[in-house]
Amino acid sequence: MEQLVIVATSDVHSPRYLMHYMSALARHSDDCTAARLVVWAGDMVERGRVSALRPVVEVTRRRCPSARIVAVFGNEEYMDRENEFVRRYPQVVWLNDTYITFETRGLRIAVYGTRGAIDKPTPWQRRHIPGIERVYAERVRRLREEVKRLKSQGYYVIAVMHYAPTRLTIEGEDPSIWPYMASLAMEAAIRDAKPDLVIHGHAHHAKRLEAWINGTHVVNVAFPARGDVTILRVPMSRAAYAEAGAGDESSTGGEAQPAATGSPPPSGGSDKSG
Ligand SMILES: [Fe+2]
Repeated sequence: MEQLVIVATSDVHSPRYLMHYMSALARHSDDCTAARLVVWAGDMVERGRVSALRPVVEVTRRRCPSARIVAVFGNEEYMDRENEFVRRYPQVVWLNDTYITFETRGLRIAVYGTRGAIDKPTPWQRRHIPGIERVYAERVRRLREEVKRLKSQGYYVIAVMHYAPTRLTIEGEDPSIWPYMASLAMEAAIRDAKPDLVIHGHAHHAKRLEAWINGTHVVNVAFPARGDVTILRVPMSRAAYAEAGAGDESSTGGEAQPAATGSPPPSGGSDKSG
């Protein structure tokens, strides 16, 4: 059966694991060549180093020439540098509580992206980001609403986020820090909205890397947890084909949708998890 190949990862923390990332792409050379989608679930650079993404983008473009690169920000891509990432890396589709849709061989795919949420803001976040609880609640609300809508329109929906959407895929981390790594509210939203696939990162020491929540496949792709990139294959079952039938890839516009409602994320602060 035909498959959509996705190369997913997060937490490369360039330059920390850059060489390992390059080796991983080389190891998966065939899958990278076949991939239509590359997903970065945040923390691709270390401590806000915008320029450190350059070699990551370059090697990814070389190894995965047919893939769109879709990314969300992690806590290391500081909030006050988001615009700089967007400006300097137009080759990357940055999703920030927004989504894109596209069609590949008749399969209609929506990718919704967000930094995500955690149950308890870290002490640093509480001090530096006013109203952070509200920001997390708003991210969850918007994901639930948009994913539901995209599902109802017949898309295969992939939700990408940095923070874990459940405690199931951070097992292996110290339980005392689980509230700072994952969001039970997000888990409830996923249970309700039922995206087909959730890709997240952030939990470097997780031992359990996959789980199912009410039929949704949740995958922790954190590079340090796996020592590798994650290759995901979406079978293009007949049911998922668009009415128009299978054909060559044709983009449906693929513009990120601007946030329509809610308070904008606070600027001037970094979203460090501490
Ligand atoms: Fe992180």
